[in-house]
Amino acid sequence: MQEYSIAVLPGDGIGPEVIKQANKILKILESKLEIKLNLNEFPVGGAGYEATGHPLPDETMDGARKADAVLLGAVGGPKWESIDFSLRPERALLGLRSNLGLFANLRPAKIFDALTDASTLKREVVEKLDILVVRELTGGIYFGKPRGVETLEDGSRKGFNTLVYTESEIKRIAKVAFEVAQKRQGRVCSVDKANVLECTGLWREIVTDFAKDYPDVALEHMYVDNCAMQLVRNPKQFDVILTTNMFGDILSDEASMLTGSIGMLPSASVGGKGGMFEPIHGSAPDIAGKDWANPLATILSVGMMFKYSFDLEKANGWLETAVESVLNDGYRTKDIMSEGGKEAGTEQMGDLVAAKLEKLC
Ligand code: IPM
Ligand code: MG
Repeated sequence: MQEYSIAVLPGDGIGPEVIKQANKILKILESKLEIKLNLNEFPVGGAGYEATGHPLPDETMDGARKADAVLLGAVGGPKWESIDFSLRPERALLGLRSNLGLFANLRPAKIFDALTDASTLKREVVEKLDILVVRELTGGIYFGKPRGVETLEDGSRKGFNTLVYTESEIKRIAKVAFEVAQKRQGRVCSVDKANVLECTGLWREIVTDFAKDYPDVALEHMYVDNCAMQLVRNPKQFDVILTTNMFGDILSDEASMLTGSIGMLPSASVGGKGGMFEPIHGSAPDIAGKDWANPLATILSVGMMFKYSFDLEKANGWLETAVESVLNDGYRTKDIMSEGGKEAGTEQMGDLVAAKLEKLC
């Protein structure tokens, strides 16, 4: 029997609640696919800090390294906002990404038909929207050196970060974007700020060159400010958006809202050892423990795990269908609630998807 090990990192806030729903799904997939899943849970983020004094405890990092894939809930909360920068829960995410070499972050913004009216944009603008943001994840200004805050001679301080990309970093993320575009609509829009930042001028040059090996993919370049505007003006012009770490951080949040709720969107970080899968949303401490959180992004992240880390793409298809079918039945968590919807809590939503999945496969 094929075995896979998953490091489960629930984290903070609503993290543990949504992960609990994902666990229900994993159980069903295990029996349906006749595979064995070895789940090991580790603390991360604020929970890691409370347990060991560090947001990414050694034991958690080791567990993640040994696993075939990592499933993460969310990290962060007001409780840890005033502690030292280097110990903030968010640092755990950066550590995991970088230590596991997960340089490619795939963030789909795909709208479910049933939720078309949940978007703040007009129906015709977002109907059938299906964008994939390919964000570089282990380089750029997030990791560039020098960085820090220094005190000047006059006693005032200066803060600085460095935007840096090497040719090989640009090529390897471009490869991911072009290959994934070949399986989609065959269009890549590379987003930079080449008119101002030399580093992204290089980015544009390398990507243009790289595209020559992919004659079946249409490449377009766009400045990031224009892209932010185009995403709300006419988002359906995009298929794959290829961009840097920071631009991808911002644009993927923007793209996610086109689909109605950030609570719906999964993500995959791949390229290195295993892969890490997590909902795009944060830990939402204000609604933690209330059974309000939308578990669908986490459940769909499980689908991405099966597709990208275990090469079991059919499980991803099943999960998308199961979620779609629950939405078509009218069930909604608070974040996607609209008139006539049947309100469901976190647990119930998990059970509903689980029940659909049982019937499906
Ligand atoms: C994300 C988050 C993280 C990021 C933070 C929490 C470090 O915003 O995954 O998009 O900036 O990458
Ligand atoms: Mg972000």
